[in-house]
Amino acid sequence: MAQPSQAQREEPAEASGRDEHIAPAPRVSVQAFCETVETAAAIQGASEDRRMAKAHMRIQMGGLTAAVEAYRNAPTPNVIMLESENPGEDILAGLDELANYCDAGTRVVVIGQLNDVMLYRELVRRGVSDYLISPVDALQVVRAVCGLFSAPDAKPVGRIVAVAGAKGGVGASTVAHNIAFAMARDLKLDSVVTDLDLAFGTAGLDFNQDPPQGLAEAVFSPDRIDNAFVDRLLAKCTDHLSLLAAPATLDRVYDFGADAFDSILDSLRATVPCVVLDVPHQWTGWSKQTLIAADDILIVAAPDLANLRNTKNIYDLLKAARPNDHLPRYCLNQVGVPKRPEIKATDFAKALEQEPVAIIPFEPQLFGAAANNGQMIAEISAGHRTAETFQQLAQMLTGRAETKKSRPSLLDKLLGREK
Ligand SMILES: Nc1ncnc2c1ncn2[C@@H]1O[C@H](COP(=O)(O)OP(=O)(O)O)[C@@H](O)[C@H]1O
Ligand SMILES: [Mg+2]
Repeated sequence: MAQPSQAQREEPAEASGRDEHIAPAPRVSVQAFCETVETAAAIQGASEDRRMAKAHMRIQMGGLTAAVEAYRNAPTPNVIMLESENPGEDILAGLDELANYCDAGTRVVVIGQLNDVMLYRELVRRGVSDYLISPVDALQVVRAVCGLFSAPDAKPVGRIVAVAGAKGGVGASTVAHNIAFAMARDLKLDSVVTDLDLAFGTAGLDFNQDPPQGLAEAVFSPDRIDNAFVDRLLAKCTDHLSLLAAPATLDRVYDFGADAFDSILDSLRATVPCVVLDVPHQWTGWSKQTLIAADDILIVAAPDLANLRNTKNIYDLLKAARPNDHLPRYCLNQVGVPKRPEIKATDFAKALEQEPVAIIPFEPQLFGAAANNGQMIAEISAGHRTAETFQQLAQMLTGRAETKKSRPSLLDKLLGREK
């Protein structure tokens, strides 16, 4: 089947807003009957979107006629998408025939060319769940299918922000924890830090918590996961902040399959507005899957060549795997280590075709004191510029505001490391 070109995919997605929050579709079957290759390509694009990873999609040509034929003797799926270029009365007649074979739970989405209120009313009267006017793009299809399964009056679902380091030790966990702290304290959003580094995670230490159980319980008994169970695993850090801690013990090994964290993340997404994932620096099925599935991604990099290469590789992979999402973001951390030659922010920006969203200076005293006391930067040194940076990042990653773009002069100021 013809794939839409990158440009085709990007344009409409940009226009309809990549920052919009769409909850992923559950495990449902979707069958589409198209009349045009453009619509088929858009639905194909949607089927490859991260939010549709659990849905099973089948796309065929032939429109309404083919659908009626197909379901005469076969059960209908959870969702049928029908494209028709025909006049309204033909669509309605086709739907009336299809209704004879449609199982009660099946939802129907129609894609047509007509922008006609009368037709729309008639479709609604027949129980059609949604009507899209062609041409459609992949994101519109994703939105329509996902929208069928999230109640219109449901409270906004959780946003999952994944924070990962381009190398080990670059401060990804520290950044993740401080951002989550700012989301909770400054933005008053209920947030959960989830420490995915089961063997060596430091979230418990950083928040001065020693919870008896945590993430391991959830991962090793996925069948028990429900809201009450997850509630018991969370350790409360502050008013709005909880921690799903790693055991940080070595008596077990943590060789997980790619979907090991699926149920716990689904459960968190359904109950907590902000979930910050502290993703360890490794490349496994589940770490890759976790990054691809996140709503927002922040890569933390130190200013050296290996970090630049790794960030670029992570960017390329995520861009390809998330064609309907806005780009990942990255910040530079530990910038300005005395006597250390560093790669400039402008060089990162050139290679990645994107400015860093923050440049965080190397401040061993401040960060060392925070780590050893089990406190956040904002607690150690209120009003400190780095604490403000974390606040801005929290705002940006929750869609509250854009952080200011860093300019070379700002970089110079930051490198000056004023206290
Ligand atoms: N900007 C910074 N300046 C000084 N030390 C930092 C900075 N950011 C992080 N650190 C320190 O670097 C070490 C590694 O941080 P951590 O968050 O565990 O890294 P990662 O999760 O990427 O492996 C910690 O001791 C932390 O306190
Ligand atoms: Mg870490």
